Amino acid sequence: MGKKVTVVGAGFYGSTTAQRLAEYDVFGTVVITDIVEGKPAGLALDLNQSRAIEGFETKLVGVTTGPNGEGYEAIEGSDVVVVTAGLPRKPGMSRMDLLETNAKIVRQVAENVAKYAPNAVVIVVSNPLDEMTALAQIATQFPHNRVLGQAGMLDTARFTNFVAEALDVPVASVRTLTLGSHGDTMVPVPSKSSVAGKPLREAMPAEQIEELVVKTRNGGAEVVALLKTGSAYYAPSAAAARMAKAVAEDSGEVLPVCAWVDGEYGISGVYLGVEAEIGAQGIRRVVETDLDADELAALKEAAEAVRAKQSDVASM
Ligand code: NAI
Ligand code: 2OP
Repeated sequence: MGKKVTVVGAGFYGSTTAQRLAEYDVFGTVVITDIVEGKPAGLALDLNQSRAIEGFETKLVGVTTGPNGEGYEAIEGSDVVVVTAGLPRKPGMSRMDLLETNAKIVRQVAENVAKYAPNAVVIVVSNPLDEMTALAQIATQFPHNRVLGQAGMLDTARFTNFVAEALDVPVASVRTLTLGSHGDTMVPVPSKSSVAGKPLREAMPAEQIEELVVKTRNGGAEVVALLKTGSAYYAPSAAAARMAKAVAEDSGEVLPVCAWVDGEYGISGVYLGVEAEIGAQGIRRVVETDLDADELAALKEAAEAVRAKQSDVASM
């Protein structure tokens, strides 16, 4: 049988996530759903036909869902559900401009997930990420550990890539970290960043680190401005798929994710980008790391910025 994972939303993010999950060949089934008639079934058919070439046994199933939950029985028994349903940004839009539209979509999806896959771990990627993660927890009423969001892995991967490119070193030799929100109050953490084991602050001047921090914060917008018709999906899907794999394998990996914070860093009662140990039940524990005073202050500022917006989504 194997593990079952569902990807809700068969757009760019959802379809590339489904592909990555299938190609890992660790799941029995990958279900992909969308409200567009035929699209998820077409993608599943196409992906299944790549199995003989890529050499994976995972089976893909594509299902169109209706406004009253029609089709959702296909997600029954899912161990993990990745929620990618929702509009992406257009050039000039902030993630926050998507709030009301995507809140309606994410609430409807989350209510059906609660009904048909009540034991699943839910990984949210729809934007604005921190708010949609909070909303998914409210709408599912799942324990906080079973609802998490993807942002930190992507933002960290962007920071790592920019450092590796700037220094012309292998990406594998660079470690970076970003915490905070998936937005203006993203908190890149130079004190926890290194190149071949050497602190980043010894590998490049402070002004250059600051430039790359700004570039990381604008990483998503830079892609949107170039694509013009949507937002990034290759790096984002890599991040969400890795998180789903960590859950399915109960791996215990410590990853930067959007998690419910309950006292860590002196912050409580909010979904925020932090490092957390990931297992079969989602978040095993939030892992606190030593931060510089200014990084900790920025994390607290991020928490307050998203707290206000997260309380708004409860009524959406
Ligand atoms: P897309 O427009 O290609 O796909 C979105 C899909 O959601 C569409 O196929 C649409 O039909 C579907 N959809 C809408 N309502 C639905 C519902 N009720 N049930 C099921 N499916 C539904 O957009 P893309 O590029 O796939 O992005 C998806 C979301 O992910 C956006 O909100 C985007 O902002 C967000 N995103 C988040 C990132 C992160 O790091 N957290 C990174 C990149 C994108
Ligand atoms: C990104 O960071 C738009 O959130 C999306 O690429």
